[in-house]
Amino acid sequence: ISTSADAYDYLFKIIIIGDSGVGKSSILLRYARNEFYRETKPTIGVELATNFMTIDSKRIKTAIWDTAGQERFKAASHLYYRNSLAAFIVYDITNYNSFRNVTKWLTELRENVNGDINVTLVGNKKDIRHLRAVTTEEAKEFAQNENLEFIETSALESENIELAFKNLIEKTY
Ligand code: GTP
Ligand code: MG
Repeated sequence: ISTSADAYDYLFKIIIIGDSGVGKSSILLRYARNEFYRETKPTIGVELATNFMTIDSKRIKTAIWDTAGQERFKAASHLYYRNSLAAFIVYDITNYNSFRNVTKWLTELRENVNGDINVTLVGNKKDIRHLRAVTTEEAKEFAQNENLEFIETSALESENIELAFKNLIEKTY
């Protein structure tokens, strides 16, 4: 047994996709560093973070790839998808269009990933209750039809962020 801080038994690659502004980078920042910023810059290309989780006394290292939602900042996106074992497709519960576009992201994901991939649909910004545009029921039904896991999160209030990662990693393990 290695005691090195960076030792691990398994390496999981997780990719985060979805429209620009839905909170992909915020979710990752909350998970990886427990930070949140009201003002962010759009991701250019891809940003990477790693984290560790222990399941059944196996140490799992997660490499999380946070991608650009803006078309003009996307580069060679098929390369991001390679070897991903799991994915989050994120929409913003106050932005119906970002939910509609989940279909597009799902198609892109399925075209670029070889084999099976665990996908969780994430409805983010659940703290903005008065501006909700996508009901939980509608998203849940969509997720069921597409065979996706489903969770609503708030990176701002730190709600369900850990849980979303934990569930996805446990399901992939
Ligand atoms: P791209 O990198 O352009 O694809 O965008 P992104 O999906 O990474 O979005 P980002 O994390 O940069 O967040 C966009 C804006 O949404 C920022 O102003 C964040 O502060 C805000 N935001 C992110 N998550 C939440 C949340 O859970 N609640 C609220 N109220 N705001 C959030
Ligand atoms: Mg981003």
